[in-house]
Amino acid sequence: MIFVDLRDRSGIVQLVFNEQHSKEVYEKAKDLRSEWVIRIEGEVRRRENPNPQITTGEFEVFVSDIDILNEAETSPIGVVKQSDASEELRLRYRYLDMRRSEMRDNIIMRHKIASAVRHYLNENGYIDIETPFLTKSTPEGARDFLVPSRLSKGKFYALPQSPQIFKQLLMISGFEKYYQIVRCFRDEDLRADRQPEFTQIDIEASFIEQEGIYALIDGMFESILKRCYSKKLDIPIKRFTYDEAMQLYGTDRPDLRYAVQIKDLEEFSKAKPKEFIVKGLKNNKRLYGIEVPLSEKVTRKVLDFYSMLAKQEKVDIFTWLKSDRGTSSGPLLKLFEEDMQKYIDRVTDYESSLFLMAMGEKRCVLSFLGKLRTNVAEITETASKDRFEFCWITDFPLFEWSDPEERYVSVHHPFTSPKDEDAGRIKNDPLSVKSKSYDLVLNGIELGGGSIRIHDTEIQREIFSILGLSESERNQKFGFLLDALKYGAPPHGGIAFGLDRIVMMLQGEDSIRDVIPFPKTTSGLCPLTGAPDNISKDQLTGLGLSVDKIQE
Ligand code: AMO
Repeated sequence: MIFVDLRDRSGIVQLVFNEQHSKEVYEKAKDLRSEWVIRIEGEVRRRENPNPQITTGEFEVFVSDIDILNEAETSPIGVVKQSDASEELRLRYRYLDMRRSEMRDNIIMRHKIASAVRHYLNENGYIDIETPFLTKSTPEGARDFLVPSRLSKGKFYALPQSPQIFKQLLMISGFEKYYQIVRCFRDEDLRADRQPEFTQIDIEASFIEQEGIYALIDGMFESILKRCYSKKLDIPIKRFTYDEAMQLYGTDRPDLRYAVQIKDLEEFSKAKPKEFIVKGLKNNKRLYGIEVPLSEKVTRKVLDFYSMLAKQEKVDIFTWLKSDRGTSSGPLLKLFEEDMQKYIDRVTDYESSLFLMAMGEKRCVLSFLGKLRTNVAEITETASKDRFEFCWITDFPLFEWSDPEERYVSVHHPFTSPKDEDAGRIKNDPLSVKSKSYDLVLNGIELGGGSIRIHDTEIQREIFSILGLSESERNQKFGFLLDALKYGAPPHGGIAFGLDRIVMMLQGEDSIRDVIPFPKTTSGLCPLTGAPDNISKDQLTGLGLSVDKIQE
């Protein structure tokens, strides 16, 4: 008998060749090697020794005829098992890498998720409309990929960083509910969750407000989880304002699989703190901490690492205390003259715990403790990748100050509407203005974001001027949108999600490269095709370009 695993897109099935059954077929089967392509005929029957590990393990095919359709050279990377080949090699032979079941499952699930999204949005009255790739710079704040124009020599198209302006124009055209699953291009430094070309689920609607967006998107994720994973999502998805998220989790992307929240430890200041703490608190410094269940995994070495991190994060004081059933120890005690126990009792949540306390400027302390919160959780708990904790973060500030650019920049993009009650302060106190914006976060990763837009030309002009765009710059860059806003623009708003990130998170992968069929490396290269590549002199001349320096 010869046993062969036959694979197609749906999985594998065992083939059985028996010499007694057909000598000729058996002889052909003896020659078979890995990854050859065959056609067989045979009888599907129950196995004598079922293999419960695989879906088709109850059955086998008893082969009566075989054709060898193609032979295969030895694969340079593992196909059946997760290979230890480098990512470079896997991408060089991506067509073989995608034969692995993990990759195949990811690509098939990507299709199912995109189909579920289309189905849901179609059912809700949204229509799919395409927008151009050869266009003008869009406002998402990354660098553009540029395409030289042959017909207008010396000029360039920009590939869209998102369809933002076009979807707003579609609202002005009267299409009311638009979506598109669309490729976007951003020339930015690449990370595990960033690619130079990636796919957005892009949505825009007229006459919609924040509540309408939340309801639409809660339903969309409920539908994805139900259709693709047979899981129930509790909706409405939790919401935090930006200020609440920063206060409780020290970040606008909280991982809610971890319960720990940042605590205000102002209570401790009653325990006669040392002079420099009193002084700090008078100077508006804040005393915050996190309390985590006592664990041997948070070693001295880990605490030393946190002290180092505190310096990097510009935190004035970092210290800690162990509290174990009413007795406490640790360097924190030395900073206070009074016995700390009664103060600890007032704030503690656990019988035995570790307090990590920091003092300094509020923003720095919260961000530092936010990092400690996830780090401690990663060390002490094993966060399950198939638990999905979604949350909305809303009401981001409209602007932030950029030191390198020495000007205000938009936290989302310049078309984001200020909150009505804050709009009066745009000129005099721009940093205090909150916006009608929202991000959706899953297990600490931003899946998408959007806003209710400005549909009033005057407010749009005011925002451009706060952003430091001169009249001529704003007309050159966005004049066509400002024009369009004059012709009866409906109130509108929308959102866009990274499809790659959604699939990565739901599939429990650590990198979006594992859910994209042909991704680029972190240096933006495609090892399979060799892109980007040189072009010929003729091509350059045709475009009216010359190249100064070629990087080897
Ligand atoms: P934003 O810039 O936040 O918003 O992008 C929306 C989502 O797109 C995904 N994303 C990326 N995914 C992979 N690689 C990248 N380089 C990359 N950049 C962004 C993220 C992100 O949350 N026009 C606005 C949306 C709107 O206001 O409607 C926009 O593009 O998941």
